[in-house]
Amino acid sequence: TAIVHVVGARPNFVKAAPVVSALRDRGAHQAVVHTGQHYDDRMSAVFFRDLGLPTPDVDLGVGSGSHAAQTAALMVGLEQEFTAREPGIVVVYGDVNSTVAAALVSAKLHIPVAHVEAGLRSFDNTMPEEVNRRVTDQLSDLCFATSPEAIGHLAAEGVSPDRVHLVGNPMIDTLLANLDRFDAEALRARLGLPERYVAATLHRPANVDDPDTVALLVARLHEIADLVDVVMPVHPRGKAAFDRAGLGDHPRVHLLEPLGYLDFVALVRGSEAVVTDSGGVQEETTVLGVPCLTLRPNTERPITITHGTNRLVTEADLLQAVTKVLHGHGSEALLDTTPPLWDGRAGERIAAVLTQWSR
Ligand code: UD1
Ligand code: UDP
Repeated sequence: TAIVHVVGARPNFVKAAPVVSALRDRGAHQAVVHTGQHYDDRMSAVFFRDLGLPTPDVDLGVGSGSHAAQTAALMVGLEQEFTAREPGIVVVYGDVNSTVAAALVSAKLHIPVAHVEAGLRSFDNTMPEEVNRRVTDQLSDLCFATSPEAIGHLAAEGVSPDRVHLVGNPMIDTLLANLDRFDAEALRARLGLPERYVAATLHRPANVDDPDTVALLVARLHEIADLVDVVMPVHPRGKAAFDRAGLGDHPRVHLLEPLGYLDFVALVRGSEAVVTDSGGVQEETTVLGVPCLTLRPNTERPITITHGTNRLVTEADLLQAVTKVLHGHGSEALLDTTPPLWDGRAGERIAAVLTQWSR
């Protein structure tokens, strides 16, 4: 029976790549199901090209919708797929709607589920991702954790420790495997970007869905642009709102389409600092040693604060935080404080457990 990976959204592809590759090295029988939650070339196909991921065996083409409509469509599509394909185990990644939908469908069909990036908690149920994480972990037979505090979170929710494996971080496997392909100078030349800039990326509902919040953020980003150029690849979720609020009207704000993986990490690597609400970017900046200012009241990735370059900021203190970093008071990652097991071998550890389990 096959190991079936379910991926659907941008961060899933980055996390799945090293697991698929390590299983391929072991000669495992596997298949990749793309749900189609993300479908634009720049949100999906570019990652398969950049990361050498195999073309998905199937793309369910589910697309966008309200939470209920999207999750329901995901479940219907995945149920048909799993019924036909009869996976030995289903592997789900992260905390997006495709993740929880696949876990629910598998559980109802009595197919074992493995969750990669289990046990992260923001303790903020207003985030759709927090709901997805909690439900997915409850339904998972195997929980692969990226950081030690996840083990305690899972135990507190009654997840038996024999289901939990601390394996490290597959998103960091992908980062380390591609380190010599992130060329910030070449990217700047190609896109005509200035030498010194702050990179920004925002897509969380709490930041981009409400026009009043967007207007405040645009005012802050314009103030930052008075000090230093701001380069922002715009996620489709916030595009209309940021356009309406005039984000691009400042001469030193450079708006881009979403970037492919290699270009985006090159942009981050060459930046003075990153302003973000992304989950994955908090981790990537920690390993790259780039100061990260996270525009959120909480994070499910506190290890990027204790062992990395991340800081939580509010809209009100963002400008001051950027100013500090520009004056050299940003946090610098020290190699020996990188989180344990973020060593580029998480995919191998996950593959070892999966092949053992599915034998
Ligand atoms: C999803 C995840 C979020 C993750 C993010 C990564 C959920 C609930 N949210 O958020 O956790 O951090 O992906 O990027 O699963 N759209 C396009 N083209 C696309 C995809 C989306 O234009 O290829 C637009 C559509 O208008 C859509 C909106 O973006 O309605 C939101 O897409 P959706 O997949 O529902 O959630 P994200 O905000 O992308
Ligand atoms: N990313 C990218 N292009 C972009 C923005 C992000 O390739 O324009 C990458 C980023 O480096 C990381 C992943 O996408 O590997 C994170 O995805 P995202 O921020 O969309 O989701 P989250 O991690 O918040 O769930």
